[in-house]
Amino acid sequence: MNQDQLKQLVGRAAVDYVTPGQIVGVGTGSTVDCFIDALAASGVKVAGAVSSSERSTQRLLKAGIPVLDAAEVTGLTVYIDGADEIDGHGFMVKGGGAALTREKIVADLATKFVCIADESKLVPVLGKFPLPVEIIPMAAAQLTRRFAKLGGVATVRAGVVTDNGGHILDVTGLSIADPLAFEAEVSQWPGVVTVGVFARNKAQVCLLGGTGGVKTLT
Ligand code: 5RP
Repeated sequence: MNQDQLKQLVGRAAVDYVTPGQIVGVGTGSTVDCFIDALAASGVKVAGAVSSSERSTQRLLKAGIPVLDAAEVTGLTVYIDGADEIDGHGFMVKGGGAALTREKIVADLATKFVCIADESKLVPVLGKFPLPVEIIPMAAAQLTRRFAKLGGVATVRAGVVTDNGGHILDVTGLSIADPLAFEAEVSQWPGVVTVGVFARNKAQVCLLGGTGGVKTLT
């Protein structure tokens, strides 16, 4: 099975975590696209979705799934999203698709985060994938110097403006041994909107697609 087929496999498996009649939180990315398509094809009728990006909103609406504003709900039972990296504790790096801020907001509304990914995303320690950080543009140079002190090399993602009008720094050279402490520290730096380490909002379940099928990590 190739990577696209693995994404379809976990996208279909995630439909089992959706309760008919409820509102589902929906992430962003190519794996989530597979989930949206699978949900639409499944016949499972949800009351609606809270979306984490314009991209997912468009796909949900095209599939006939109503999209609600995050401000209209007080909580969600489940949030389904992909990841750029996930470790054995459910800690993740996210933001490869530049949607990390809204992803963290919607994930925070949910009781359960179900991560869907192919097995290439499972890592022993976070940091090999360049860490996305959404920032206020005027802080770019200052934050680049701060990351350099941690051994990271930060680069502004060219040509990208997020759904919130922010810019993205991609930081290479980090090894994130303590994701909770790292997220807490970097989140306080002036100019950081959202750091792409999801530790406080970690995955409770990971559906990992591999050649042997879908493995469920909890
Ligand atoms: C978007 C994300 C995505 O979940 C992450 O980049 C994985 O994407 P894909 O499913 O396309 O591999 O965090 O901001």
